[in-house]
Amino acid sequence: MKALILSGGKGTRLRPLTYTGAKQLVPVANKPILWYGIEAIVAAGITEIGIIISPETGEEIKIKTGDGEQFGANITYILQEQPLGLAHAVKTAQPFLAHSPFVMYLGDNLIEDDLNPFLDSFKSQNLNALILLRKVSNPSAFGVAKVDEKGKVLQLIEKPKDPPSNLALVGIYFFSPAIHAAIAAIKPSARGELEITDAIQELIHQQKTVEALQLIGWWLDTGKKDDLLEANRIILDTCLTIGIHGDVDSQSAAIGRVQIGKGTKIINSTIRGPVIIGENCHIENCFIGPYSSIADRATLIDADIEHSVILQSAKVIGIQQRIVDSVVGQRARLELAPQRPKALRFMIGDDSHIELV
Ligand code: TTP
Repeated sequence: MKALILSGGKGTRLRPLTYTGAKQLVPVANKPILWYGIEAIVAAGITEIGIIISPETGEEIKIKTGDGEQFGANITYILQEQPLGLAHAVKTAQPFLAHSPFVMYLGDNLIEDDLNPFLDSFKSQNLNALILLRKVSNPSAFGVAKVDEKGKVLQLIEKPKDPPSNLALVGIYFFSPAIHAAIAAIKPSARGELEITDAIQELIHQQKTVEALQLIGWWLDTGKKDDLLEANRIILDTCLTIGIHGDVDSQSAAIGRVQIGKGTKIINSTIRGPVIIGENCHIENCFIGPYSSIADRATLIDADIEHSVILQSAKVIGIQQRIVDSVVGQRARLELAPQRPKALRFMIGDDSHIELV
């Protein structure tokens, strides 16, 4: 059994962050989203992992993630020259996948459930494809499955106007090598991509065994800001290990579940968990409220934030109003003069989003 993680793509929905970096490396609780997928795959006993990368962000992913040693895995990087669809990514990875069955994992998806029961089910029933489904309130925004009462998949429809069920396709799939012939038989869709839903539909057409199981726990597709914040909230709620490795001065308080990295200085501030603060940060005269993740080397002075994600080396200075539901990109600077500002001066990148509420 091998694994294929898709970490190419354009990431248009997370712009501007994805102009300068891979969306799969955007951190959730200070850890790249991609790494949660790698860890889940290794936890299911799969160590031969191929990662699809794009020419734009591939190098960054390679440098950061390495050869897999830190995860107990063996990682092979596979360049997909253009993001021509999920099935195109599988086609590109064919030399790596060879005749092995594999789990395909979208690099920006996070799930709570353990992969093992799904893998067992895929193997024991000798399936050609096992897809995972999750009930959603807005099925029209997803690939949707029509299944019979035994879980056999009858039909898959991409973003249906009139959805046949509320069961959305989660970005994790198990395939036998039969998927390659199905991909060879399909044509690009109207949006010019080789769709994995079409390839699975082709398997159904060829009378292959395609089954579905429902996820019980949460599922997040972190490709958008609100999903990213939600993923951050859930991971801080469920997985945060407490530990104060930096300096918290006597004027400061760290309350509840808080993790503070080495070399970080907390001066005259209140940190109310769950909060994670990375290494070598400077936090002074701040209130850092629940569900905040602050990455390495960030500086926050005279600031008040909650339910927000601050990326590496960002600076937030002099913002007295509470900052909520916000994502601040790497090296971004958000500063206000100490006195009530008479004017606001901005240098805002393309596709940035600022709300003064
Ligand atoms: P999507 O989120 O569907 O596509 P995208 O990355 O282009 O994002 P956006 O819609 O914001 O422009 O892709 C799901 C995952 O699969 C994501 O991790 C990127 C990856 N992917 C590839 O590796 N190759 C591809 O050809 C496509 C379409 C996606």
